[in-house]
Amino acid sequence: MKRVTVPAIRARKGEGDPLVMLTAYTVRMAQLLDPHCDMLLVGDSLGQVIYGLPSTVPVTLEMMCAHGAAVVRGSYHALVVIDMPFGSYEASPELAFASAARLLKETGAAAVKLEGGKAMAPTVRFLTERGIPVMAHVGLTPQAVNTLGGYGARGRSEAEAAKIVGDACAVAEAGAFALVIEGVVEPIAIDITRLVGCPTIGIGASAQCDGQVLVAEDMLGLFERTPRFVKKFDDIAGRISAAVETYAADVRSRAFPGADQVYVPSSPARR
Ligand code: KIV
Ligand code: NA
Repeated sequence: MKRVTVPAIRARKGEGDPLVMLTAYTVRMAQLLDPHCDMLLVGDSLGQVIYGLPSTVPVTLEMMCAHGAAVVRGSYHALVVIDMPFGSYEASPELAFASAARLLKETGAAAVKLEGGKAMAPTVRFLTERGIPVMAHVGLTPQAVNTLGGYGARGRSEAEAAKIVGDACAVAEAGAFALVIEGVVEPIAIDITRLVGCPTIGIGASAQCDGQVLVAEDMLGLFERTPRFVKKFDDIAGRISAAVETYAADVRSRAFPGADQVYVPSSPARR
């Protein structure tokens, strides 16, 4: 099966067949998600989910490169998109190009994602015109937690709503091939989806977006903090706890290892 391409994603705008996207940070998770997803996002949310950091602000290019390469190795179907970490792109289009080129060269991913609207539009254009497809990200932009003051939904006031719509249109016009809309009141997500020429990918946005993304650990019930917009499709944390409880009891009672898990001298060793 050929890997999904950026033009193929762009062509899905307004098709009525929503794009499916999840985050992946590790090879095994990528293998499991890949057959079901159009795109895998190596999100900088790995800061909290994998490393226990307080926000995405401390995430580095080195972390994104290491996890991005693992996700590319674990997938062959989905388009892999990598987040540009905070500090690796905002200062100038040239800095952004150097960082994005490194991400693509060291991982084999096909596209980057960056947060921001009007202020980032020239950067989106600069990268796109030089061979680096960009997915933009507007609304609740977690790297801006220190200026936003938290992770609450955006766009409740008319002024804020107008700013988000303006941001979305600016990055779409600058050439973004897709646009993540995160944590906004639903009418804004619907307006943006109608206005822009590229697919919108919602997270805490609207079912009317052209696709949806979630953090895989959130929808699987593996991560402890889950915002309102997460639907838990499983309780993997509960199942891990139960399995580990049984393992601990079996070790303590010497029920494990059993006859099937030990090597017998007379027979050839099994793996
Ligand atoms: O880092 C992330 O996981 C994201 C999302 C859009 C979920 O940016
Ligand atoms: Na992110």
